[in-house]
Amino acid sequence: MAHDINILGIESSCDDTAAAVVRGVPGGAATVVSSVVVGQTELHAAFGGVVPEIAARAHVEKLDVSVKQALTDANLELSQIDAIGVTAGPGLIGGVVSGVMLAKGLSAATGLPLYGVNHLAGHALTPRLTDNVAFPYVMLLVSGGHCQFLIVEDASTFRRLGGTIDDAPGEAFDKVARLIGLPQPGGPAIETCAKVGNPRRFALPRPLLDRPGCDLSFSGLKTATLRARDGVIAQQGGLTGTDQSDLAASFQVAVADVLAEKSRRALISYLELNPARPTLCVAGGVAANASIRSALETVCTQLSVQFVAPPLRLCTDNAAMIAYAALAQMPDRDADGFDLSARPRWPLDKSSPAMLGSGKKGAKA
Ligand code: KG4
Ligand code: ZN
Repeated sequence: MAHDINILGIESSCDDTAAAVVRGVPGGAATVVSSVVVGQTELHAAFGGVVPEIAARAHVEKLDVSVKQALTDANLELSQIDAIGVTAGPGLIGGVVSGVMLAKGLSAATGLPLYGVNHLAGHALTPRLTDNVAFPYVMLLVSGGHCQFLIVEDASTFRRLGGTIDDAPGEAFDKVARLIGLPQPGGPAIETCAKVGNPRRFALPRPLLDRPGCDLSFSGLKTATLRARDGVIAQQGGLTGTDQSDLAASFQVAVADVLAEKSRRALISYLELNPARPTLCVAGGVAANASIRSALETVCTQLSVQFVAPPLRLCTDNAAMIAYAALAQMPDRDADGFDLSARPRWPLDKSSPAMLGSGKKGAKA
């Protein structure tokens, strides 16, 4: 009979060093016992993006202390852990290697089974950890490094409906913030500034809405915002606070419109096959944006679809989702050996071609 086990999760694929303990039944319900996330925002602030080498060095410094802290917070010794789940990709390779090496070292020293986890599977399975959402469901990942629609069939089967062909939306928020003189991270800065802006002042494009399907693009929108900014500067010699707010609001509503319309399409094609399980889940930092969230909620209400957004601390990068994904996949797979490799790219849906390009936060799988 299945019983509760303790999984140690390790995550270091981007700019957060994270460790967590999750307790639960393999393939069943679980709870987060502890979750430690050490961010690196200040280390990269001066460079306008994540610098892979700096990120990797910071992970090396912070991984072991994060693991110790997660165990202390859980009130557990390493000897009370039953398995280790570690992000083995996709992501910035130096960071992924750091986490995988630590996990292998712990596994070699303790004999604990080691599970290499796809970071995107961690995000995609989080709604089951937090809200016990039944399979299948539609998942929208929207962060600084990810942007895709997935049908989550079970803990190990994901079907990709579409995704970005260039930038991730968080990346676009960060770049546009820089263009209009707002601080990083750009998403929250744009959201705050947009509150007093006029979203109709600049007619920005809604990229790829003229094409069928659920693929998205944010690079052209960013360039259009740049042109709008340059137009104002050419006329006035600079940007006023009102200009900044109007640019921020016009950009934000364009992103919200595109995400809402593409979600509508993803849901319509999903519902044709799965009318009995109407659920849209979101994960990623961009899901924190109230305008975007409300645009998605409106689509869900119109289509009678349940909308699930896990709490932000589990929506953004963390190790609890990695530990949980290992636990969820245990019944379907074996543990990994010491030949587990770190993978910069690792598409979740093997039948779907890998997307080209890599963003501020590494390869987009
Ligand atoms: O999920 P996350 O913490 O890290 C990864 O990218 O993996 O997402 C961070 C991204 C950043 O690009 C940030 O600007 C964006 O999410 N973000 C937001 C908001 N809060 C964070 N974008 C729009 N509105 C927000 N309120
Ligand atoms: Zn992530």
